[in-house]
Amino acid sequence: MARSALLNVMVQAALKAGKSLSRDFGEVQNLQVSVKGPGDFVTQADRKAEKVIREDLLKARPTYGFLGEESEEIKGTDGAHRWIVDPLDGTTNFLHGIPLFSVSIALERNGEIVAGVVFNPATDELYTAERGGGAFLNDRRLRVASRRVLSDAVIGCGIPHLGRGNHGKFLVELRHVMGEVAGIRRLGSAALDLAYVAAGRFDGFWEVGLSPWDIAAGVLLIREAGGFISDWDGGTDMVESGSVIAGNEHIQKLLSEVVKRPVPTR
Ligand code: IPD
Ligand code: CA
Ligand code: CA
Repeated sequence: MARSALLNVMVQAALKAGKSLSRDFGEVQNLQVSVKGPGDFVTQADRKAEKVIREDLLKARPTYGFLGEESEEIKGTDGAHRWIVDPLDGTTNFLHGIPLFSVSIALERNGEIVAGVVFNPATDELYTAERGGGAFLNDRRLRVASRRVLSDAVIGCGIPHLGRGNHGKFLVELRHVMGEVAGIRRLGSAALDLAYVAAGRFDGFWEVGLSPWDIAAGVLLIREAGGFISDWDGGTDMVESGSVIAGNEHIQKLLSEVVKRPVPTR
């Protein structure tokens, strides 16, 4: 598998940030039992990871814009390109010592995602994609799952929590989906959820209320693995709208219909 110079820069940045997160994750596991808990330490780990990525990416392409979760946006003198980065997706898992988190890096060119990397340092799983070049998990080419009916499908989702999202609306969505599928999962890292769809582990996924850095890399992974992904309205405005419904062409369509079913009247 040949990677472009740009994708290599992204991979190196993700691996470096991943190394830093892995070291800190070990410490977080020790801090669980401390009175103060690992909260502040995790905030620092998160910021440190973004700094590593930002420095590497801007060193390689100083004119590109940079949108990261943990720092002020840089507009960049090059109006066409923008890095979109979540240095730690799955913060709650990381904080609790659960090894399901990721680094997500995407490159946008004229509003289109052209390269994406999602890396889970705890499992050493590196997902990469370039537009037109396919999606990979480490060296293995990815293809979305081929199941065609919801009754065989395992579907990932995001669950709103204290202070976040519309709980009532989600419960209606869940009620409809749970009656149709083989299983529902909630990993806690949207970037990883989308990578799991690309890898055929999840047959589909839906979540609303996300941010550009949660989604950007995963959108390309799914498309390059032959999958389909839309926003809530069936359009392609996922990164800006923060809503995603994904799967292969059959499951994406079926899941879209089911999650959008109206609230039952009785
Ligand atoms: C969160 C994760 C989670 C999703 C949340 C995101 P963070 O990102 O992606 O799966 O449900 O909406 O905010 O805060 O861990 O970077
Ligand atoms: Ca995130
Ligand atoms: Ca984050």
